[in-house]
Amino acid sequence: MNVFSSFGANYSFKFVLRVIFARNGYFFQKKLVNFLKKKYQGKVILTYKCREAIELGLLSLALPKESFVAICSISCQEVIGAIKQAGLNIEYLDIGKEGLNFSASVLKRALAKNLKIKAVLIQNTLGYPCEIENIAKICRKNSLVLIEDLAHCVGCKYENGIEAGSMGDMVVLSFSQNKILDVTAGGALIFKKPFRVILPKKEPDLKRQLVDRINPVCMYLSKSFYPLYLLFQKLVFFSKPFTKIGDGIHQLPGWYCSLVLYKLNNLDYELSHRREIAGIYAKLIDKDILSAKLVSQISLSANFRFPVFVPKKEELISYLALYGIFLDDTWFKGTALTLPTHINISAKKSKEISFLINKWIDNVSDLRS
Ligand SMILES: Cc1ncc(COP(=O)(O)O)c(C=O)c1O
Repeated sequence: MNVFSSFGANYSFKFVLRVIFARNGYFFQKKLVNFLKKKYQGKVILTYKCREAIELGLLSLALPKESFVAICSISCQEVIGAIKQAGLNIEYLDIGKEGLNFSASVLKRALAKNLKIKAVLIQNTLGYPCEIENIAKICRKNSLVLIEDLAHCVGCKYENGIEAGSMGDMVVLSFSQNKILDVTAGGALIFKKPFRVILPKKEPDLKRQLVDRINPVCMYLSKSFYPLYLLFQKLVFFSKPFTKIGDGIHQLPGWYCSLVLYKLNNLDYELSHRREIAGIYAKLIDKDILSAKLVSQISLSANFRFPVFVPKKEELISYLALYGIFLDDTWFKGTALTLPTHINISAKKSKEISFLINKWIDNVSDLRS
């Protein structure tokens, strides 16, 4: 079977059936809210996507209109769109050459230049922890709102041993496609402070919910039949996320919540699988294209993806595609290429990918020029 890093890569046959037959009901929303409330110790609001949770959270802060939110320079379009939709500006913080997160000193320098930064969103990119203690200290000192976005990093631990989601004034989660807690769509906002939140009233329409029910089975089938994969990529309705900027903020229907609860109950197993696969890549792949710092953080990381740093990465992507390994890394600029660690990547497959990458490196003599 072909290997994908996104496009429904997380799904197993059992899971796609579970999605089709997932039961609906308010009971599941209540159960998920209680679970998250206990885990993250705050007021929980469920939304249809994480981007909606970010927008809702920022709107609830009622910051002055010209305020800035500081984010990682490699943030995805959905996060950027949510901040703009809340009427706020963005300060991009540099992550350095082989980093994944901005440092506390980069944040400090940005604050010295831009007094309108009022909130800071950290994302622990690809599951790798940022310098949270120093960042949180700076936020406290400057009365900035600290937002922990757990879309990549649910279950990751910081260097101080504390789990991500315990340090921010606000926490957001994603249950959308390709994330660790992927149930096709979903998000959550958790407030640690008494902000006034306007609760979402409407659910996503039934047509969209139907697409979310059948999308995983289509993606699952297309993994073993490449022309079907190409066809689904052309069907915007299937391959593109539903909510565009301005679509509003929606409640999360009960059936998505029942699937999130299932995923949360299996999270420890999933994280240990991802850790094992990241460990194999770290051990086998040529050290010249690895970051020693990130490798040392594998035991803390949620290992959403495993990063290698290669000039000419498009050539490596094309090379791996010849062997049925399709890496989709369009949002990651620069030399970083991310390898899949999800539940459908076996230890054997990760060894095969490592072997192919090393072989490609051997054949590209001017790789490091
Ligand atoms: C760090 C981060 N947060 C949030 C999102 C958006 O999540 P959702 O698709 O649930 O809106 C993304 C991108 O998908 C992301 O990379």
